[in-house]
Amino acid sequence: MSNYRPTWAEINLDYMWHNVLVVKSKLKQQNIIPVIKANAYGHGAKEVFQFLIRKGIDTFAVSLLEEALELRIINQDVKIIMMGAILNDQLEIASKHNIDITLYSSHIIRDILASTHPLNIHLKIDTGMHRYGLTDEHEILNVIHVLNNHPKHKLIGLYTHFATANENETYYLLQLDRFKNILTQIKQQPKMIHISNSSSALKYEKNYAFTTHIRYGISLYGLTLDEKVDDLKPVMSLKSKVVQIKQLKKDEYLGYGASYQAKKDERIAILPIGYADGFIRKNKKGYVEINKKLYKIVGIICMDACFIKVDETIHEGDTAILFGGLISTDDVAKRLNTINYEVTCQISSRVPRIYIEGGFYD
Ligand SMILES: Cc1ncc(COP(=O)(O)O)c(C=O)c1O
Repeated sequence: MSNYRPTWAEINLDYMWHNVLVVKSKLKQQNIIPVIKANAYGHGAKEVFQFLIRKGIDTFAVSLLEEALELRIINQDVKIIMMGAILNDQLEIASKHNIDITLYSSHIIRDILASTHPLNIHLKIDTGMHRYGLTDEHEILNVIHVLNNHPKHKLIGLYTHFATANENETYYLLQLDRFKNILTQIKQQPKMIHISNSSSALKYEKNYAFTTHIRYGISLYGLTLDEKVDDLKPVMSLKSKVVQIKQLKKDEYLGYGASYQAKKDERIAILPIGYADGFIRKNKKGYVEINKKLYKIVGIICMDACFIKVDETIHEGDTAILFGGLISTDDVAKRLNTINYEVTCQISSRVPRIYIEGGFYD
């Protein structure tokens, strides 16, 4: 889509690299696997992928085969791990395009073993999340043995995912112990062991000396669910421009449902961003920043526009920051009763991403 509209998400790749260095500075383990599924948490998977490759990163994780293939077209050399559920009819495509797959369930084992297409496999161990992964220890050890001796396939990695890294240490440690316990029983370990996510990497960095890679997403984007990480820089900011100023007279109504009535003569700025852009209706009564001041969102948010009650200092052409300035992604998450992950992920593909690298707009 061409970028003509005065609404955009600014993606600061310099901040992203800063965030990589922050995580690396806190950890002994220097190999990272950036998680760039879901369009790099809304930041633009292709651009983030290309940027990190330029910076020397050579291993990435996504969820879907489609996501992996979109990246594989751009680069044929780096490792791309598909973490989501793969089905039998996708194995050939994954093999053909050199996409590492996840062995995530008992039911796919037979298909994988029977596949004539050579596969690079990461075995996911369910240590307590109870989502993807094998749980039964006997089955896990057996599959590892079989794969280590398979004529075509390679067991490349072992991993797990923590359910409570940011909130319940006891449960986190239980999962960690389960994983380590299985690892001690494996004679021929695969070359990649990757278990941490952002929260656990930053909080429990000492626990990962035995792993080969730190696999993480949200802190790459400068966000966290932990309170203590203060040196990350949020990568995305959402911006739009005032395209029209409306003078509402006292008692006049505004927008759908005539749900907002001016209490006195009011000045309303219209921003061309709405719920189809991911700025959902629940944002009503929130605030946006214009010229370093906060102004209230009024009325019902439309599909393509929203209304801001402003003062005389605001004019057509002024830039509004919906988050990423005085209002943080976390403020919006709180407003929407959700987590910061969802705020950036939900910015839709209609919103052009503008990239900043080396201090310059791309
Ligand atoms: C399997 C897996 N690994 C790693 C991650 C990255 O987690 P985070 O963004 O919390 O670092 C996710 C995120 O959902 C995931 O599902």
